[in-house]
Amino acid sequence: MTDSLSLHASPPECPDGIDDDCWLACVACGATYPPFDEVRYTCDDCDGLLEVRYADLPGWDAFSGRGVWRYAAALPFETGRTHAPGPDDPPAGVSLPEGDTPLYEAPTIEDDLGIERLRVKHEGMNPTGSFKDRGMTVGVGVADAVGVNRLACASTGNTSAALAAYGARAGMETLVLLPAGNVAAGKVAQAALHDARILEVDGNFDDCLDIVQELAARGEAYLLNSLNPFRLEGQKTIGLEILEQFHEEEGGYPDRIVLPVGNAGNTAALYKCFRELVQAGALDPEEVPKLTGVQAAGAAPFVEAIQSGADGVERWDSVETLATAIRIGEPVNAPKALPGVRETGGTAVAVEDEAITEAQRALARQGIGVEPASAASLAGLRKLRAEGVVDADERVVCLTTGHLLKDPEAAAAAGGKPEPVANDVGAVRSLLGS
Ligand code: F0G
Repeated sequence: MTDSLSLHASPPECPDGIDDDCWLACVACGATYPPFDEVRYTCDDCDGLLEVRYADLPGWDAFSGRGVWRYAAALPFETGRTHAPGPDDPPAGVSLPEGDTPLYEAPTIEDDLGIERLRVKHEGMNPTGSFKDRGMTVGVGVADAVGVNRLACASTGNTSAALAAYGARAGMETLVLLPAGNVAAGKVAQAALHDARILEVDGNFDDCLDIVQELAARGEAYLLNSLNPFRLEGQKTIGLEILEQFHEEEGGYPDRIVLPVGNAGNTAALYKCFRELVQAGALDPEEVPKLTGVQAAGAAPFVEAIQSGADGVERWDSVETLATAIRIGEPVNAPKALPGVRETGGTAVAVEDEAITEAQRALARQGIGVEPASAASLAGLRKLRAEGVVDADERVVCLTTGHLLKDPEAAAAAGGKPEPVANDVGAVRSLLGS
C-alpha cells in the first residue's frame, strides 16, 4: 500500500503544472495527471489505479442542497444538471436526480441479531434502482467534458441499467457487455428500454470487463466501469450521506458499515470518502466506521485476500452464486479497497446463498425490498455477529445496493407462492378459512 492510501495520509498537495482544482494520481506509483486533458483510466507509467485528488477538501459546512450534488464541493463538477444537456452547457454532471436515499430502522432484525442499533441504507431507492446512479451522474458528466460520445461498460446488470439511462439522458450512444444467462431480468429490461446496445458474451463478468477494457484502450468507447476514477467520486457520496443522516438521527457516527463486494468499487469509494473527511479535519480517525465487506461464498476472492493477509487478490476463474450482481472473480478495485478494510479495522466475510435468501426475506418482512446481492450485507452481519466479531454494543449500517424488482425471479423464488382460486367469492372465503 502506498502512503497516500493510509487513513493518516496528509492532505494531497497540488502537483506542479496542474491548474485545475483536481487531478488524477496513481495509487501505486504516485504519478499525477491533469483531470480532463485526455481519456485515461489507469497510470501511463505502471498501469496502477488512478484516483481523483483535490486541492481543497471540504468540511461539513461546504455542503448544501439534496442528493449527490449536495456534495458538489467534494466532486469534480459544481453541479449536476437535471435538464437534458444542450450544446452550450458548461461541463456538469447529468442528474436524474440521485442520492438522498432512506436510512431505515429495522427493529425486528436489530433485536434478532442482538445489536445496539441497525440502520439499513437502501440504495435501491435511486432512479434506476441501484447505487450505480451516484457514480453515473458524475461519470457521464466527465464523458461529456472530455468530448466522447460512445459510453461502454461490462456489467453484472446494474451498471448497464444506470449507464443506459444516464447515457440516454445525455444523448450519448451506449454499449453494454453482459455475461450471457447471468444477469437478472429487470436489469436487462432497463438497459434494453433505455436503448443501450446489449452484447451478451459467452463468458463471465470478468471476461466482459477484459473485452471492454480492450475496446476502451483502443479508443473505441469511453469506459464507465468502476475502474474509471470519476465514477467512484459519485459513489463516495454514499458515505457522506450515511454519516450526515446517522449523525442527525442517532447522534455520532456508526461504528461499522457492512456492504456487499463485487469489484470492490464501492468499498474503495467509501474509504476515500472517510480518508478525505479525516484529511479535511471533519472526522477523527477513531470515528471512521469499520468497513466490512461481504461476498457470496461462491465468488469470494476479496474475502480470501483479507483472511490470508495477502497484498492483492487472486482471480477466481470459476464463480457461482444466485446473487448475480456480485458474481465476480477479480475485484479490480482491490488495491484501493483492501487498505480501506484494513485501515478502518474492518473485515470481510463470505456467506452461503441460503443465508442471502434468508436475509432478503428478513428485510422484506420489514418492508425493505432488496435484490439478493444487497441482502448479502445483512447475511454477513448476522454471521459476524454470531461469531462474536461484531459486538452487541455496535451501531451498524447495512448497505443495500439494489432494489427487489431488479431480480423478480429471485424475489418470487424467495417469497410465498400465489394460490390459484376459482372466480368466486365463496371459493376465496373457503380458502381463507372463513
Ligand atoms: N450490489 C449490487 C446490487 C451490485 O450491482 C454490485 C455491483 C455490487 C453490490 C458490488 O459493488 O462492484 O462496487 O463492489 N455491480 C456491478 C455491475 C459489478 O455491473 O452492476 P462493487
